[in-house]
Amino acid sequence: MKSQIFDSAIAVAEAAASDAVQTLQSAVNKRGSASWVLAGGSTPNLAYEIIAANYIDHLDWSRITFIIGDERIGPLDGPDNNWQLIEELFLQHVLEATFLRPKSDLTAEDAAADYQSRLEALPRGSNGAPLFDLVWLGMGEDGHTLSLFPDHDDFDPHSSRLVMPVHNSPKPPSDRISLTLYGLTESQKTVILATGEQKKTAVKSAFDSESKLPIAQAARIIDETTWFLDEAASS
Ligand code: 6PG
Repeated sequence: MKSQIFDSAIAVAEAAASDAVQTLQSAVNKRGSASWVLAGGSTPNLAYEIIAANYIDHLDWSRITFIIGDERIGPLDGPDNNWQLIEELFLQHVLEATFLRPKSDLTAEDAAADYQSRLEALPRGSNGAPLFDLVWLGMGEDGHTLSLFPDHDDFDPHSSRLVMPVHNSPKPPSDRISLTLYGLTESQKTVILATGEQKKTAVKSAFDSESKLPIAQAARIIDETTWFLDEAASS
């Protein structure tokens, strides 16, 4: 697990944007295609705007499959929908790609089962989880990532599903779907984006090798994990 520290949230977003385009290009060069697990949250959103403004012509997006790590249950065009915002900021500028958008207007159970079956159709690694070339993760102040919340009944670190329903989320809205830890196990590279002083306690805890925080467990799943932090979150 590595970390890179930048002097502002904008600098984190710029670095993440440039890193994503390079990572996806190198996966395309090797295998002809690549997959990217998107994250909701403030810093990823800044990075999406930077990609839309500066990097749209840098990649043949038709080779890319977009997945999202978690989604809120509700109307697809509602204000809570993570994908909808990412589409407005970035994906509407990508003319051709494979977009695996969750059917989050179903119940959490049905949306999770549907997303699981669509992810099962992707190339998979030896342990059965999808081979994601790049995974972006955000982190909440409580150390949650995706919709995996600390000390929450629905967070099962040993789940053998790829996608699970979540109810009673401590961060609204209540109902969600989320990739599980198992769903991340064949990721080729994970980048964790965390900025702001309010995140620094959770960042510090997550670097403890015994930490049970969801972000810490996700960070330890593969070797190729890099934290992109600003000075406020890292201090
Ligand atoms: C969600 C998000 C969530 C987010 C973190 C960090 O659906 O609520 O996916 O997991 O990534 O809470 O968000 P911020 O970067 O906005 O603090």
